[in-house]
Amino acid sequence: FENFKILATASQVPTRVVDNDELSTMMDTSDDWIVQRTGIRRRHIAVDETTSSLCTSVAKQLLEKTGLKPSEIDLIIVATMSPDYLTPSVSAMVQGNLGADHAVAMDIDAACSGFVYGLNMVKQLLIAETPKNAILIGGEMLSKLIDWQDRSTAVLFGDGAGGVLLKNTPKAEGAFISENLKTLGKLGRYLTAGKTGAPTPFMEKKDEFSPFFQMNGRRVYRFAVNNVPESINQALAEASLTTDDIDHFVLHQANSRIVEKIAETLGVSMDKFPINIDEYGNTAAASEPILLDQLVTNGTIKRGDVVLLSGFGGGLTVGTMILKY
Ligand code: ACO
Repeated sequence: FENFKILATASQVPTRVVDNDELSTMMDTSDDWIVQRTGIRRRHIAVDETTSSLCTSVAKQLLEKTGLKPSEIDLIIVATMSPDYLTPSVSAMVQGNLGADHAVAMDIDAACSGFVYGLNMVKQLLIAETPKNAILIGGEMLSKLIDWQDRSTAVLFGDGAGGVLLKNTPKAEGAFISENLKTLGKLGRYLTAGKTGAPTPFMEKKDEFSPFFQMNGRRVYRFAVNNVPESINQALAEASLTTDDIDHFVLHQANSRIVEKIAETLGVSMDKFPINIDEYGNTAAASEPILLDQLVTNGTIKRGDVVLLSGFGGGLTVGTMILKY
C-alpha cells in the first residue's frame, strides 16, 4: 500500500447566511466594495453550530456515502485554525461522536493550507501493510476570531467544513501524483488570529491577548500571487506534467482576484479555476474540500480527472497537491 484514493467527499455549512448588505448595516462598508475587491457576496455564519458539529456532520455523511461502519475508520485528522477547544481536539470530538473507537484522531493547523498539509499527513500515516481508512476534514468557525467592528477583516471570512474519506491502495490504483509544501515562518506576523489563554499575574504586558484576526492584506496578497504559482510549477515539474495535464485547479478561496491573478501568471484559462467564494467567503482549511465536494456532487469532477489542489495562508504556508480523483 503505497498510495491512497478518495472514496467520497462531503461538506456542511451553517444555515444562517449573512450577505454584504447585512454587513453594511453593521460597519462602514458596501456590497460594491466587497464584491469588487474580493468576489464575496455572502457567507454562512454559525449560530448554534461549532467547528466540531460541522465536522461531525461531514464525517457522518462520509460514512453514509461509502457504507463504512464507524469501527472501520482507522484515522481521523481535522485541519483547523478555529477549534472548539485546545483540548480535546476537534478530531477526538468527531471520533467520539461517531463512535469510531478504533480510530486515532488528531488536529493539525496550517491555516488555509491545512487541507493540503492534511492530505500529506494522511498519505504518510496510511502507508501500511493492511487496508486502512482515514477521514480528513477541514473545518472552521472563523466568525469567532473576527472583530465585527473591523471592516478590513470582517467581510472576508465564513464558517464551514468539508472532507474526504480516503483508503490506502497499491501504488498503481492510487490518487497521489505529486506535491509541494512550503512554510515561511518568518512572514507569520502578516496574518495572526486567535491568541489563546489569558494574562497571568506574572506577565508584564497584559494587553496582547486580542483573539481577533490581524492582517496585512496587501502583504498576504503579494505572498499569494507570487508563492502559489511557484508552488504549483514545482509540483507540476516534480511529476513532469504541464498545466495542460490538469483538469481542475481547486485553489483556496481567499479572494477571486487572487485566483484570477494566479491563473493569468500560469497562462491558464479561468475555465479551469472554479470559484465559489461568492457564496462562502474565505473558510480557511474548509475552502478546498467544500469546493471539491461541490464539484464532485455536480459532476464537474469525474473519476480519472487530474485535480490540482493549492492552499495558502497563515503561517505563512503554501501547499500544492496533484492527484487523480
Ligand atoms: N469596506 C470598505 N472599505 C474598506 C473595507 C471594507 N470592507 N476594508 C478596507 N477598506 C478601505 C481601506 O480602509 C482603504 O481605505 P483608504 O484608502 O482610505 O485607507 C481602502 O479600502 C483600500 O484598502 P486596502 O486594504 O488597500 O484594499 P485592498 O485592495 O488591498 O484589498 C483585501 C484588501 C481584499 C484584504 C486584499 O488585500 C486581499 O485580498 N489580501 C489578501 C488577503 C487574504 O487572502 N487573506 C487570507 C489569507 S488566508 C488565511 O490564512 C486565513
